[in-house]
Amino acid sequence: MTEYAEIEERHSSGGVARRPVVLVRGEGARLFDQEGREYLDLGGAHGWASLGHSHPAIVRAIAEQSARLIMQLESSYNDQRALWFADLAAVLREHLGQTDRGAITRIHPCNSGAEAVEAALKFARKATGRTKFVALLGGFHGRTLGALSATGTEQYRKPFEPLVPGFTHVAPDDVAALRAAVTEETAAVVLEIIQGEAGVRPLSAEFLRAARRRCDETGALLIIDEIQTGLGRTGRWFACEHFDLAPDVVVLGKALGGGIPMGAAAWREGLGKFDPGTHGSTFGGNPLACAASRAALRVIREESLPQKAAELGTWAMEELRSIDSPVVEEVRGRGLMIGIALKQPVTPILKELMSRGVWAIPAGRQVLRLLPPLTISRDDLERGLEIVKDVLEERR
Ligand SMILES: Cc1ncc(COP(=O)(O)O)c(C=O)c1O
Repeated sequence: MTEYAEIEERHSSGGVARRPVVLVRGEGARLFDQEGREYLDLGGAHGWASLGHSHPAIVRAIAEQSARLIMQLESSYNDQRALWFADLAAVLREHLGQTDRGAITRIHPCNSGAEAVEAALKFARKATGRTKFVALLGGFHGRTLGALSATGTEQYRKPFEPLVPGFTHVAPDDVAALRAAVTEETAAVVLEIIQGEAGVRPLSAEFLRAARRRCDETGALLIIDEIQTGLGRTGRWFACEHFDLAPDVVVLGKALGGGIPMGAAAWREGLGKFDPGTHGSTFGGNPLACAASRAALRVIREESLPQKAAELGTWAMEELRSIDSPVVEEVRGRGLMIGIALKQPVTPILKELMSRGVWAIPAGRQVLRLLPPLTISRDDLERGLEIVKDVLEERR
């Protein structure tokens, strides 16, 4: 082990298992370790690196803003924050439309996906006066206690129980169970359109329609977690758009800050807002993150990244479906959010890919997940997929 790895092992909390490699640099779709060895990043650093590593527009925005003002709380106004609110609200209005509750214009800025989920849950209680939530088995919403309570996987929940009371979990695509679980006491239904951590599992159009309808019947809010699927990943700005689904609340994170930690919970104007003093965050909406996020939103638009994800994703999925290997069960996903379900554990395959210079990630024990930067070139993706194909075809 290198010196850096030894130090990290001595001091880390233990909550995150590490790969035996010291990454020191990133450029576009490439990562470099201490020895200068190159990895093609098909994991997109668990989905935050939609713009790749150190995109020049992000580097510039950070450099310029850090020389002006790095940090200022939401307790005063700020030029970058104001412009970021306006930019993000415009994207949300354009892509998630208008309902009888108005457009999605109210935004709580924070520092991570889990914090965005926390804010959404608190806001749903405040807006409805109700306390209960319905979420999905297999759903993943973060590791803080509220977000973990919405998360539907035993392995993450069990060691930390008791969690926040009032959460019920139903099986994805079980319309009858959802209808029974959501009542006049439900503050909100929380779900991902494609369950990422659960193995890149898309929900059915019928289930999503039923969720919207049941929320309308009971007065519950529909919170859509677009932390992993949002901002172009699935081939549209938001995965909701594939289904014409109008959420009441949407939560964002990962790609939102272009690599600077940032999350956001956003909701429709007609739902109201928090009372002063009841919610906030020291670093939430800091000028540095806002400047980086404005640059990220601009790049996503100017480089047509959602469209690129759709095109590359369709092609990539076809390539992967042509793999001739008895260990592959199914290739699924949308855009550049791809899961290859295997009939054997994924860890040895990830190791083999690493040894051949490809960085991919797992989703559960038996799914190989690909979330490449949306900026990746077709040549790089082709080369990476060729290696994935070889590794899978060699396994019997
Ligand atoms: C769908 C979804 N929601 C929430 C989270 C939590 O985000 P964070 O790790 O930034 O707290 C994640 C992280 O993987 C996620 O994929």
